[in-house]
Amino acid sequence: MSERLEDIAVAMVADGKGILAADESSGTIKKRFDAIGVESTADNRRDYREMLFRATDAMQNHISGVILYDETIRQKAADGTPLVELIKATGAIPGIKVDKGAKPLAGFPGDTVTEGLDGLRERLAEYYELGARFAKWRAVIDINVGANVPSATTIAANCHALARYAALCQEAKIVPIVEPEVLMDGAHDIDTCYEVTKATLQKLYSELHAARVVLEGSILKPNMVIAGKKSGKASSPEEVAEKTIRAFRETVPVAVPGIAFLSGGQSDEEATANLNAINAIGPHPWKLTFSYGRALQAAPQKAWSGKAENVAAGQRAFAHRARMNGLAAAGRWQADLEKAA
Ligand code: 13P
Repeated sequence: MSERLEDIAVAMVADGKGILAADESSGTIKKRFDAIGVESTADNRRDYREMLFRATDAMQNHISGVILYDETIRQKAADGTPLVELIKATGAIPGIKVDKGAKPLAGFPGDTVTEGLDGLRERLAEYYELGARFAKWRAVIDINVGANVPSATTIAANCHALARYAALCQEAKIVPIVEPEVLMDGAHDIDTCYEVTKATLQKLYSELHAARVVLEGSILKPNMVIAGKKSGKASSPEEVAEKTIRAFRETVPVAVPGIAFLSGGQSDEEATANLNAINAIGPHPWKLTFSYGRALQAAPQKAWSGKAENVAAGQRAFAHRARMNGLAAAGRWQADLEKAA
């Protein structure tokens, strides 16, 4: 495998493949485990993730890379093999979440800024030694129109931090995934999401340029342009696709090799249908694929439910979602393929 940033970035968005976001922090994975009645111990977290990484068909055919959390990149499988080696054996690239979470932005109620730059150079050097060849940093932009959220200040602060993170990654020979997530939790309509997404991406690429980040060696992980969950309005895949691509065409340079979406709270099938609709209106100047957490893992988590005898069922559920999303990344998914499962 080439160590050039440009080659790694291209491999992360290879045809029919996407990224498994398995980088839930200890707090987030506890929430997921609570929902299936599993205690969140280090061994249970290891067993669960080992199950996914050993789903060989799904990993080899549809997963280009896996985003890990600090605990996981250091963990060994039950038989003593490092989890990183299990991932590499499937041909997928190990990656690492390096941000330290979104914290309230002083002076701007409702806005957050993602922290984690202090000591990042040293942490990246260690993660490289542990096998990481790409990283992720998630900025969180909420929308609450009545409360003037997001402010221009939160967008600027988050995009500046993303650019400093990305430059440090490239210095460490690690491909940065830049993730400015405009949340879909609010009551806003799809056009407000479009405006906020566009303003955020414009600022992001201006900051990345100022920080001398080589775009060819980076990946964008954005939200789709979609109505907020509390708006009570459903967005059709066609409308999501049209408005998402419009926002990108106006802001994302073609030097960026690929765009890998977060699922952000969409249902499994919604995330797949929307990705498919986006690719169906191509060709586009970038690869467009998935970097899903919940939309890849909700089904296997439920099927597994913490029981060793359910590992095969969990792997089947994961393989199915990985295959559906792999097809969507090529614009070749159809709803009746879901029913055949
Ligand atoms: P979701 O797909 O569950 O939004 O998670 C992706 C991710 O990595 C968010 O940072």
